[in-house]
Amino acid sequence: IQEKLQPENDKIKDLTRNMEDSSGEVMNTNTGLRINDDQNSLKAGERGASLLEDFILREKITHFDHERIPERVVHARGSGAHGVFKVYESLDKYTKAQFLNDTEIETPVFVRFSTVAGSRGSTDLARDARGFAVKFYTQEGNFDLVGNNMPVFFIQDAMKFPDLIHAVKPEPDNEMPQAASAHDTFWDFISVMPESAHMIMWAMSDRGIPRSYRMMEGFGVHTFRLINAEGESHFVKFHWKPLLGVHAVAWDEAQKISGKDPDFHRRDLWDAIESGNYPEWELGLQIVPESDEFKFDFDLLDPTKIIPEELVPVQRVGKLTLNRNPENFFAETEQSAFHIGHIVPGIDFTNDPLLQGRLFSYTDTQLIRLGGPNFQEIPINRPIVPVHNNQRDGFMRQTINRGKVAYGPNKLDNNSPRQAKASEGGFTSYPERIDARKIRARSKSFLDHFSQARLFLNSQSEPEKNHMIDAFSFELGKVNSVEIRTRMLGILSLIDKKLASEVAFALRLPVPEDPELPVNLSFPADADPADYDPIM
Ligand code: HEM
Repeated sequence: IQEKLQPENDKIKDLTRNMEDSSGEVMNTNTGLRINDDQNSLKAGERGASLLEDFILREKITHFDHERIPERVVHARGSGAHGVFKVYESLDKYTKAQFLNDTEIETPVFVRFSTVAGSRGSTDLARDARGFAVKFYTQEGNFDLVGNNMPVFFIQDAMKFPDLIHAVKPEPDNEMPQAASAHDTFWDFISVMPESAHMIMWAMSDRGIPRSYRMMEGFGVHTFRLINAEGESHFVKFHWKPLLGVHAVAWDEAQKISGKDPDFHRRDLWDAIESGNYPEWELGLQIVPESDEFKFDFDLLDPTKIIPEELVPVQRVGKLTLNRNPENFFAETEQSAFHIGHIVPGIDFTNDPLLQGRLFSYTDTQLIRLGGPNFQEIPINRPIVPVHNNQRDGFMRQTINRGKVAYGPNKLDNNSPRQAKASEGGFTSYPERIDARKIRARSKSFLDHFSQARLFLNSQSEPEKNHMIDAFSFELGKVNSVEIRTRMLGILSLIDKKLASEVAFALRLPVPEDPELPVNLSFPADADPADYDPIM
């Protein structure tokens, strides 16, 4: 098998351990018994009845009955590909991560692109954000950069994520609409969640209907940290810049393509790779010294904000090339488990409250989606370095751990796995000092929801602005409630009066003169108002 898998890399070699090529082989059961008749069940006579004794029939049907696993709760529709990443120049000034230091290392990667709202079989061309999840199989363990094709997010706190997703997914009574944002629950939520103003501008722009996965930017969204060998921290925003440029389709094209080929993006990615036309992106970094943390008029920890490239340019530091399609969609793409908590030494988290909640959510959901605590053993997920620890057992355990001792410290077995010495690398969290009261709150520095929404609108050309007006008009035109439409016009008027009046004209509604400002839902009675502003 390995000879056929070109171009190969350490991860591809690792995957071949589990590959099975049955061509030309005689069929047998899962216990290894040769099968002489795979088409006729065992019967009492030619015309039945069928016999319960028929273990070959039972095995075949039982396995089929259990073929499906739950789709992802979000980002259910996706496409994956293998590739490699190489850094141009050592970034040791900023990070000790080996794969970002050594220009000789070609790090294997697996990437999964996705839409967010639709189910597994929904159209690729829905207006939506796109996931851009990259798993780097480094020599220091897996590093996952789980981003989107938009640099900001709808909400500032993970506490609101279940609400956002309940609003954006098909409505619970009639399970409509599939993979579209044009419905009452979604716009109701957005209309009372002004922090989503910036993201909604991206979603209603041409970025919401990409031409191809190969022509999308990617963003890590949150501010992360890079840590160098001296333990110094720099803030960082991650970017992916497609070498084919950023392109979109027009909305009427998107609708036609959805009808004719709902697999349009999946097919495009597959065909490009099959024909050797390998998609490429450059990794971009925006780096901010620790000492500049408070120099911006927005908070670096707020995931609804970008760092404008005029203020901090994007340095292009390496290249990602996707050069091989998966062998098996289920085994690789469907079973892949990304998580921003999969981290390597030299990269660390910040206190962004959306990031912090994500650190819990991914493993939690994968425990049920992938059937228990051993999903890291699934071939696509396991690291290219061997795993040694005292974790044992659980559903579907594959590893046969040897020896009596699965605990530490111990004196029985001097050879049991031990902790890494400082000289052997390993992960230590950045020792950020935190001295604060424990409260449920949001910082005042998170409360400007409209400046960057406006900045984005003003960055668009006239035709692009017109596309946005059309998108808002179309999407809000599908909303039944006049109240919701009006509240949204109010939000738009706080971003840009002209945009609001153009959309209002299309909806045959007036722009509210005094838009309703939603109030905060949680303001603890004993909190110090000086610390934050209760207005959402
Ligand atoms: C899945 C991105 C916020 C929970 C995903 C995927 C991406 C992604 C790309 C698909 C991964 C794949 O291809 O398998 C993002 C970004 C976010 C964000 C960029 C904001 C900056 C959140 C938050 C939560 C969350 C706040 C929860 C608190 C999930 C869950 C999945 C998922 C449960 C499904 C994972 C699975 O079943 O394997 N996200 N997400 N996400 N995300 Fe997020």
